[in-house]
Amino acid sequence: MRFLCIGDVIGRTGRNALKEFLPTVVKEEKVDFVIANGENAAGGFGLTKKVFNELVELGIDVITSGNHIFDKKEIVQFIDEEEKLLRPANYPPQALGRGYGIYTKNGKKIAVINLMGRAFMGIPLDCPFRKFDEIYEKIHEAVDYIIVDFHGEATSEKTAFGFYVDGRADIVFGTHSHVATADEIILPKGTAYITDVGLTGPKYSVIGMKIEEPIKKFLTGMPVKYEVAKGELLFQAFFVEKEGNETKIKRIKLSQ
Ligand SMILES: [Fe+2]
Ligand SMILES: [Fe+2]
Repeated sequence: MRFLCIGDVIGRTGRNALKEFLPTVVKEEKVDFVIANGENAAGGFGLTKKVFNELVELGIDVITSGNHIFDKKEIVQFIDEEEKLLRPANYPPQALGRGYGIYTKNGKKIAVINLMGRAFMGIPLDCPFRKFDEIYEKIHEAVDYIIVDFHGEATSEKTAFGFYVDGRADIVFGTHSHVATADEIILPKGTAYITDVGLTGPKYSVIGMKIEEPIKKFLTGMPVKYEVAKGELLFQAFFVEKEGNETKIKRIKLSQ
């Protein structure tokens, strides 16, 4: 199976970057299954039904998320109904939505688990390490592949998690920082790992946002309003091919 893992898709610019680059990448790499993080896909913050549908129509098989999942109020009206939409599984159990799903593609069963780190995230979450154990015990005998989107700020937490699940998860890809890391690796027991895939969206931006406002914030310490940057497009993804014990990985970066 050939998997493509896309990080945080930033607003309309991110959706345009998907339209521009995704079809060619899927064709050239013969991708079977696409996952993208949609937490910033609507106006840079959260997800609407319309944008969710747009991502599905673009060929995304599963949409993961993170700390921005509940930013748009209308999410509560559809998050429970959409099987292709995940929020971190280690949210308190009372939170709406689901944290993992099992999907069938080309006759294979693929589990996608969304987790969120606890370092510097500011949301009271359950332990993502133990939450993985719990889900793994429930599902691993019933699925062919296990893929984790680990949404977190601290590179150390994500790296530790990668080693913790090495040999149990097939792929661990990090999201949230919006900045790609160059540490893609096949871990000793076979897990394909990257600390952060990086954003898909504007090429020139401060983590996806217009440049002027964040600079103003750093200069003055005053609150500013963030807006998704426009202009040239950037597409970033983590490609993994997995057949039995054979694993190939590749970091993809395309821009205008
Ligand atoms: Fe994000
Ligand atoms: Fe995030």
